[in-house]
Amino acid sequence: MSHIEWDESFSVHNREIDEQHKKWIAIYNNIDDVMAGTDTSSLTAITSKSLTEMHDYALDHFKFEEKYLEQLNYPELVEHRRLHRDFENQIYNYTREITDGRLILNTSLLKIIKNWLLEHILTEDKKYSTFAGEDIPSQR
Ligand SMILES: [Fe+2]
Repeated sequence: MSHIEWDESFSVHNREIDEQHKKWIAIYNNIDDVMAGTDTSSLTAITSKSLTEMHDYALDHFKFEEKYLEQLNYPELVEHRRLHRDFENQIYNYTREITDGRLILNTSLLKIIKNWLLEHILTEDKKYSTFAGEDIPSQR
């Protein structure tokens, strides 16, 4: 697989959220590295640890982002929240299946996660960025 490289086209014009998206992508890239260089005996343990990290980080990031969207009075917040909950559940389920030995990290699973991240940031998060306008400062 290949890494995701953050560039300006990913920006949602909120510095803090951009930094969180970079961290999130770094966690993904780390999973990609795990897949590339690990023998199968340790793959399960490392993968479930990395996916747990992805899940926990997503929880924190989504919480922050949703608070920001509340402050913006973003009209599509309900739908956006639902996408976040779906991702959390999906990653949680993958982690469980991997831990139980029912699933092994492979390129198609990585691809699903990668596509979700790209689609979410570049399409869904861009919608609130456009709604907010480009000069709204971080609202922490
Ligand atoms: Fe989001």
